[in-house]
Amino acid sequence: MTSAVRVSAARGPLVGSTAVPGDKSIAHRALLLGALADGTSTIRGFPGGADVRATLGAVRALGAPAEWDGDVVRITGQGLALGTGVDTTLDCANSGTTMRLMTGLVAAIAGRRTLDGDDSLRRRPMERVAEPLRRMGAQIRTTDGRAPLVVDGASLRGGDWTMPVASAQVKSAVLLAGLRASGSTSVIEPLATRDHTERMLRHMGVPVAVDGTRVGVTGGHRLSPLTLTLPGDPSSAAFLVVAALLVPGSRIRIAGVGTNPLRAGLLQILGRMGARITVEAARDEAGEPCGDVVVDHGELRGTVVTPDEVPGAIDELPVLAIAGAFADGETRVTGAEELRVKESDRIAALEQLRPLGVAFETTRDGFVVRGRPDARLGSGTIATHGDHRIAMAFALAGLRSSGGVTIDDPTCADVSFPGFFGRLEALGARVDAVDPS
Ligand code: S3P
Repeated sequence: MTSAVRVSAARGPLVGSTAVPGDKSIAHRALLLGALADGTSTIRGFPGGADVRATLGAVRALGAPAEWDGDVVRITGQGLALGTGVDTTLDCANSGTTMRLMTGLVAAIAGRRTLDGDDSLRRRPMERVAEPLRRMGAQIRTTDGRAPLVVDGASLRGGDWTMPVASAQVKSAVLLAGLRASGSTSVIEPLATRDHTERMLRHMGVPVAVDGTRVGVTGGHRLSPLTLTLPGDPSSAAFLVVAALLVPGSRIRIAGVGTNPLRAGLLQILGRMGARITVEAARDEAGEPCGDVVVDHGELRGTVVTPDEVPGAIDELPVLAIAGAFADGETRVTGAEELRVKESDRIAALEQLRPLGVAFETTRDGFVVRGRPDARLGSGTIATHGDHRIAMAFALAGLRSSGGVTIDDPTCADVSFPGFFGRLEALGARVDAVDPS
């Protein structure tokens, strides 16, 4: 059975208008907070990838009815009754966001929940979320620091937590627990991370106090239901942006992409590398900025990504490595050791650039790639390790290769970007089903 795909040099420029699925990060939050709200929320632009399907299944298992039709989800929040006394296993599949945010959400709700996931998720660190929640009084057992987790709902008290690692998932988990804790709960971040939870809570009528890098909520507020259209996911758009930058003569427009400044790091880094990217028709959707992203092909030059830039581009660093292979000079990423504990060790997975002919070195906390604007890569087969962003990043390498780059497990792209390969093909890329052997 054919299951691999080969992406080869495009026949011509990538041109046209396109769109990407709705923002995965915001979709998770809309489901979780929608389940906690008093009343029915309507979420349009639901991306439908495997990660958000895991959250949808989990909120349903907790007792929040949710109908999914096309790209619209209607979820009936249960307010204070959500999940009370429901002992269940919540399957988080491949999704770290589902597992970590859900842990915070159920920590104060009476009943026992076991949170589990696939082999990749079972390898990822979970003490980072269990520890601050335990300090609030949560009863959480990890399995040697990892999933499965067993959470027994308990009474929580607020407090302050200084996060050792910059993580929007941990911050959000603590804030979700804080909604049901006594008193106020604050998180102090080492570096600012995506603030989708904070924006959505405010939109639902919950005050969120922000003072520098301290973010806090007070327990006991009720949440009003949401009606929102999700902006396009900037982390999915990133792959199409880089595709257009790599293929000479390309010009594409991606409609309605989220431009939250705490997610737009890649666009800033690429701009510094000389990329011509503009945002048109800027607007706001339920407290989140978005706009149409227009990209023109152009030559890039290397750059240094500093640790403070990492949270705003964390999921885009694999595709930045691909862009770096075609930039003039060195692109160096530092302070990104978190890449080693994502869906795969992404620093190690990027070493597969070397057999394609790219001068690429890893460091403890990042990588260095020496690029050439006229580079033409060799061909090869990439092991994705089931990691959606590795699959999509290396697919782009194929656009500038002599014989094409084969992706062993293209279906894993469905975790965040269902239809990615079709979208790339529709813009003019060559994508062929091949035998993986
Ligand atoms: C996410 C936060 C980031 C990011 C992940 C989604 C979120 O993870 O890598 O893809 O939705 O909060 P960390 O919190 O582990 O940095």
